Amino acid sequence: MNLILLGPPGAGKGTQAKRLEERFGLVQISTGDMLRAEVKAATPIGLEAKAIMERGELVPDAIITAMLAARVQQPDAAKGFILDGFPRTVPQAEALDAMLAEKGLRLDHVIELKVDDAALVARISGRFTCARCGEGYHDQFKPPAVAGVCDKCGGTEFTRRADDKAETVGARLAAYHRQTAPLLPYYAAQGKLRSVDGMADMSAVTAALEEILAPAA
Ligand code: AP5
Repeated sequence: MNLILLGPPGAGKGTQAKRLEERFGLVQISTGDMLRAEVKAATPIGLEAKAIMERGELVPDAIITAMLAARVQQPDAAKGFILDGFPRTVPQAEALDAMLAEKGLRLDHVIELKVDDAALVARISGRFTCARCGEGYHDQFKPPAVAGVCDKCGGTEFTRRADDKAETVGARLAAYHRQTAPLLPYYAAQGKLRSVDGMADMSAVTAALEEILAPAA
């Protein structure tokens, strides 16, 4: 099974992709995480992407589609994947359609997480991640059980993303509405689009996604 989680920054794509990975044996492919790894390693892609990401704008389609094409060739993607943060423009969606057709693969679901802009700012500004294992937390919505200690690995170092500052979040939301929202009618026209209420609590969102992916018999 191959699916796309679509939605604005902070909608919960990464949070839900991790849960679905475990539940359905799929692999999460996050272009944002891939770009942050390139930035950290100071590769040519990372050097080009860093300033663009810090401004809250989108990295050029050619860079992203080449990176994604290489990623879906990797053996772990053969069990099925959850695309998180890709595609983000109509040209990226067209490139994905061509890539999948060439490999004889199909897209089974495109699911939109619908969240109000005002809630997104609160979600993004409270977000932090365990530096050791990457587990995601939120100051208000998902704090670690013991303050300062990762529930998953016991790590005590946490990081906050450079593009999670309030002034950048506005630019990221504007990029979503201008460049990514046109994907909703694109996938609706293919008969693949479903929407889930991303304002519900995390477990309710997971349950709604599971119902789409594995409907009760
Ligand atoms: P990317 O890393 O993809 O970021 P994004 O789309 O802005 O999404 P986020 O990771 O911020 O949010 P999310 O929806 O995953 O939410 P999360 O689960 O963390 O992209 C970053 C940058 O890279 C882009 O701006 C661009 O420059 C570049 N880029 C990446 N892909 C690209 C592409 N394809 N083309 C061009 N450029 C690209 O949740 C957020 C917080 O809310 C968390 O703290 C979580 O705990 C909390 N939360 C989640 N769900 C709930 C809930 N139901 N209730 C309450 N809190 C919740």
